[in-house]
Amino acid sequence: MAQSALLTIMTAAARKAARSLKRDFGEVENLQVSRKGPADFVSAADKRAERAIYEELHKSRPTYSFLMEEGGEIEGTDGQHRWIIDPLDGTTNFLHSIPMFAISIGLERNGQMVGGVIYNPITDELFTAERGKGAFLNNRRLRVSGRVHLADAVAVTGIKQTASARNDATTIAEAAAMNAACAGIRRTGSAALDLAYVAAGRFDGMWERDLAPWDIAAGILMVREAGGLVTDLSNKEIKPESGSVLAANEKLHAQMRKALKAV
Ligand code: IPD
Ligand code: CA
Ligand code: CA
Ligand code: CA
Repeated sequence: MAQSALLTIMTAAARKAARSLKRDFGEVENLQVSRKGPADFVSAADKRAERAIYEELHKSRPTYSFLMEEGGEIEGTDGQHRWIIDPLDGTTNFLHSIPMFAISIGLERNGQMVGGVIYNPITDELFTAERGKGAFLNNRRLRVSGRVHLADAVAVTGIKQTASARNDATTIAEAAAMNAACAGIRRTGSAALDLAYVAAGRFDGMWERDLAPWDIAAGILMVREAGGLVTDLSNKEIKPESGSVLAANEKLHAQMRKALKAV
């Protein structure tokens, strides 16, 4: 299937950032690493990749707004479109030479996610989605897993230290509850890839708290376009700003919600 103009632009930006990240991968001594929070690092690799994406997208769509993890917000003149960008999702993995990280680019139009690209440069897996047109891995159409019993399901989440010890205790308690209810839990270190893997039916479900818009913007659309249900952890309609996510097929979504609610 021929790629749309939108996905062509988004893919070109992701591939340009990927070249930059591949040059920096394994070069941690030269990456000027600093800390933004107890478990949040930033390096020259994040910044270089973000610049590459910004330049490419701005060149193609000069009027659109930007929300980027490292550079923050840039207001465009068009008032309808906003790129939401994580140039390197999985910075901690990257800095440890663990080849599990991704570039995540989402496009919002009038408050709705309409385009998403999640790209792992190491495996060369390119996940794409457009509103109403489905989700794809390279050129293969994606569908969420068909498992219907949580006891058979593999679920993925993120556990990290945040500014609130109370929230962290809830996160651990929820992980314990899910662990007791499902067939296994994973923690990959990249929320964007977790959502792409749910879209691909690799993980049966994903939940996580304390997420930023750029972690989930593209992933929300990816799961939805693969036939999954994605909400925030209160089962409300999800937006990139919601801060939490619960994604699975409809049947597992309800069972995961029940398991988490019991905490
Ligand atoms: C992080 C990853 C991680 C999630 C963290 C995010 P970063 O993003 O998505 O899986 O648990 O909340 O901050 O900082 O590597 O872009
Ligand atoms: Ca970060
Ligand atoms: Ca991130
Ligand atoms: Ca990041």
